[in-house]
Amino acid sequence: MLVFGSSNSEDLAWEVSKNLNAGLGKLEVQKFPDGELYVRVDSDVKGEELAVIKRTRTSDDLIELILTLDALRDSGARLIHTVLPYMIYSRQDKRFKKGEALSAKTLLKVLDELSDDITTVNCHFLRESDERVYHSVRIRNLDAIPQIVDYFRDKIRRPLVIAPDKGSMPYAQEAAELLDCEFNHLQKKRVSGKEVIIKSKELDVTRNDILILDDMISTGGTIAEAAKVIRGWKPQSINVGCVHGLFLNGIEQFKGTVDRLVCTNTLQTPISKVSVSDIIAGDLKR
Ligand code: R5P
Repeated sequence: MLVFGSSNSEDLAWEVSKNLNAGLGKLEVQKFPDGELYVRVDSDVKGEELAVIKRTRTSDDLIELILTLDALRDSGARLIHTVLPYMIYSRQDKRFKKGEALSAKTLLKVLDELSDDITTVNCHFLRESDERVYHSVRIRNLDAIPQIVDYFRDKIRRPLVIAPDKGSMPYAQEAAELLDCEFNHLQKKRVSGKEVIIKSKELDVTRNDILILDDMISTGGTIAEAAKVIRGWKPQSINVGCVHGLFLNGIEQFKGTVDRLVCTNTLQTPISKVSVSDIIAGDLKR
């Protein structure tokens, strides 16, 4: 197998290729003066099984991936596995108003057409891991919560896992099982894309190290509000782990509010200390 990293994902592709003892494929990616992308396959892929790993954070990332997959197929690849550590548009998976584009479906249909299978990590609209079918597209959804839990395992002594909202409860429950501790959740009301309100509740956690888990930190509003509420309970420490760290308002906003903050490397950030390369490699070995 050859592993291709595409721009912004070479580090992850390198880790995965090491784990699989596979070769690294070469791509040339450039931008024309008008902003359009240029992609060229610089490895012999004829008859090869390939994995293309691409963090899709921007629309350009998506175009680059589409061009790469098609160029690889045109160059004679036998089998192409697309791996999206972070999948762009995964929050537009439902239609709320008539006529709205179902972006997650559209994107997956295009990638499904251009590759043989699609793998992602903690997909926002798929709470369960393993193989799922979404609008007739098969996606393998990997789970990085155990890796995040391992990161915190020897850093927190009396853990209590808190989900910042009901939607994140499955992650909190999973982490609590792995840490053999209790879990609880807060009630979140989203006022707008940028603002959330989180209701407090009575909990005696003064002896606990709190672990807040979520699939993603986008503006950071959810975690900032949850941490504010939890700080009022006077726990020993507040620790936060998320899979996808978008940090649209920066990481600095959490300084002084939380004691530890970590995310995985499905996106590149200064605190992407948990690698998902092992779970991606494990999936490609199947
Ligand atoms: C919600 O469904 C998600 O699990 C996250 O809680 C949410 O996307 C976080 O967004 P933000 O950081 O903007 O509050």
